Amino acid sequence: MNKSIKVFAPASVSNVGCGFDILGFAIDGIGDEMILSKNNLNKLHIKPIEGYKNLPTEPSKNVAGVAIQALLDDLGSNQGFDIEIKKNIKPGSGIGSSSASAAGAVVAANELLGKPYSRKELVNFAMQGEIAASGDAHADNAAPTVLGGFCIVRAYDPLDVIQIESPKDLWCVVIHPQIEIKTKEARELLSTEVDLKKAIRQWGNVAGLISGLHQSDYNLIGRSLEDHIVEKQRKVLIPEFDNLKQAVLEAGALGCSISGSGPSVFALCEGEDKAKAVSSAMNEVFSKTTIPYFIYASQVSNNGVRILE
Ligand code: HSE
Repeated sequence: MNKSIKVFAPASVSNVGCGFDILGFAIDGIGDEMILSKNNLNKLHIKPIEGYKNLPTEPSKNVAGVAIQALLDDLGSNQGFDIEIKKNIKPGSGIGSSSASAAGAVVAANELLGKPYSRKELVNFAMQGEIAASGDAHADNAAPTVLGGFCIVRAYDPLDVIQIESPKDLWCVVIHPQIEIKTKEARELLSTEVDLKKAIRQWGNVAGLISGLHQSDYNLIGRSLEDHIVEKQRKVLIPEFDNLKQAVLEAGALGCSISGSGPSVFALCEGEDKAKAVSSAMNEVFSKTTIPYFIYASQVSNNGVRILE
């Protein structure tokens, strides 16, 4: 059995407009790299982090450490691991930074332990990392990062995740302004009451979006990418949100909303040409600000964490 493994853990877009805490998908192009090696010390050791470094390396405070420990506790194992993290996804970006580290860690540990768990079971452990990061165990980033594709979190207790393949011409463009929004704070901002009329519209959109994905009905996907509950409360945190949304819709995007808890904003598009036009529209809006930003355009990834070597 191998003693060391290297994995790539992709970024992800959660909520997907109408599906707060229950929908997410993985994206190619950006992700964290991690190397896990077994040690004989019976404990977890996180080496100094490369890339975005401003993260705790104490295993009980680091999302990767917390997630692996949850797996080991469930297994009744005291196997130790050395953990190297190349953190390419900025924390507080809204594209699943904490989930990537947690998901990469549990997939890698599971491989080195002889695969005692299925990928679906690993989502439970990756989700524990989210508690460390945001105080809440939401799985809408963790599930697609572990499994790939679009994921529906049908229920949390017990966790019931449904994975669906993405239509082949579905592209995602994400703009990531280089400011940080803490998920915990963006969650505390939300009202805990939902107006029934808004909830009815939201349920219609969730059902429409899933149906559109199954049938590769791009028009239906676009019509359903509307959030009547969370977007309005959170968009105040995101510079240029209304201008971005208007510009990408004019450029032909199917729909646009906040990625996770922001500040990233995503748009879904049919085909690469539309994705390029939408990237230019985002660039046009944001180049007028003084905020540094990155734009990523990629197909929705049907892969979750990938084993590199
Ligand atoms: N569903 C979570 C939220 C995702 O919006 O708070 C956080 O990235």
